[in-house]
Amino acid sequence: MKTSTTLLAAVSALAGSAAAESMAVLKQMKIDAWAAQNEAGVYDINRYAAQAATSCVNGKAGEYQCKNVDLVSFLRHQDMGSSTRKGNDIWGWTAPNGREFGAVGQTDGTAFVEVKSDGSLVYLGRLPTQTTSSSWRDMKVIGNHVYIGAESSNHGLQVFDMTKLLTITTPKTFSISSDLTARFTGFGNSHNIVAHEETKMIYAVGTGTAAGCSGGLYMVNVTNPATPTSAGCLSAGGYVHDAQCVIYKGPDTRYTNKEICFNFNEDTLDIVDVTNKKSPTTLSSTSYNGASYTHQGWLSDDSMRYLLLDDELDEQNKKGVAANQRTTTYIVDIKSLTAPKFTGTYQSPAKAIDHNQYVKNGLSYQANYGSGLRIINVKSLATDPTGKGITEVGYFDCHPEDDSVGGKAEFVGTWSVYPYFKSGFVLLNSIERGVYSLKYTGPQ
Ligand SMILES: *[C@@H]1O[C@H](CO)[C@@H](O)[C@H](O)[C@H]1NC(C)=O
Repeated sequence: MKTSTTLLAAVSALAGSAAAESMAVLKQMKIDAWAAQNEAGVYDINRYAAQAATSCVNGKAGEYQCKNVDLVSFLRHQDMGSSTRKGNDIWGWTAPNGREFGAVGQTDGTAFVEVKSDGSLVYLGRLPTQTTSSSWRDMKVIGNHVYIGAESSNHGLQVFDMTKLLTITTPKTFSISSDLTARFTGFGNSHNIVAHEETKMIYAVGTGTAAGCSGGLYMVNVTNPATPTSAGCLSAGGYVHDAQCVIYKGPDTRYTNKEICFNFNEDTLDIVDVTNKKSPTTLSSTSYNGASYTHQGWLSDDSMRYLLLDDELDEQNKKGVAANQRTTTYIVDIKSLTAPKFTGTYQSPAKAIDHNQYVKNGLSYQANYGSGLRIINVKSLATDPTGKGITEVGYFDCHPEDDSVGGKAEFVGTWSVYPYFKSGFVLLNSIERGVYSLKYTGPQ
């Protein structure tokens, strides 16, 4: 586990003395890659054409390679009011009356779309960035509110009431003062926002030095969204890149009903008990062969026995099994929260870096940068923890530029995916192009 992400850590990682890269190094790699993309015109206005619904037939939906995934609707970043035309994270909200909405991250703000009952997307408006633009903007939803952070200095946490969207008829640019339910300023910049709906907690991760939490879990109690309050901090493990937090109901009965977070900590998986916000405890900190940048992950099902973990730099750095640059997902047996075991890996047929994945009904929806959305069936883990039984059941490759060479391990294509709408429509946010409404048509 890392103790800090100071310049010193960055320098030692550059010198090759650290096992994994630090966030400072990773951020600079991306800044350089995206500057080159910008130079090449990939974010230019009118660079991409608007697109109509297109079914996946014989492996293609229009220009996109696909399998069992139809293109239902698409909106370019420029069609959603962005002047930077560059996307990042995404999350969804379902209104009490069942209407479905997306909060689409862009470097200069958050765009709101409705996913109509036929899956088509309607742009409703946007909430601009609180301060400056940043490549990193992250949003999660609890109840009727979306919580938005960014790597922009003094940004803080925007709290926006999604029910404002229910009456919109023409797209509206919301005010970053009068239209906010609240703005939490206990931290300025943050890298990522983790939401735990059951406990009404937001855990901001990767916050800046001034926040005083070493980039660990910065806990914000949003029980009352209008008055978010600081509830505690977990700094012991240093920088946390992302996390999933649950009320634990898994096999390790020592922790039944405790609030447990699985933290993706740059070079380790850290499992922590945050039941007592004032005094969180680390249960284990575990590294693995191939560790390059432990990025994100998700429990494979409600039994809480296995965890899927993605490492963002193993493909590019050709480390461990990822040396062939095929997207590698690590499987962790978390039967014991104090002694998790890495039991195997799944490798995608496609070469690409992995970024974010979310599991729904035994299918993991992976946003894998240049190879787009990849859907894998992980139900076999219950009987085979090696990962050999995992199969790819669908995909939609939103980045055709690298298709002719079989994919590349680069920071291009998709950033994240939201698969949890009851309608089954899946939202995929692409960095360069815009947001896609997709429908998976394969076996469940
Ligand atoms: C969160 O806030 C609510 C309402 O103020 C309070 O009842 C609860 O104890 C708080 N929880 C924590 C963990 O601070």
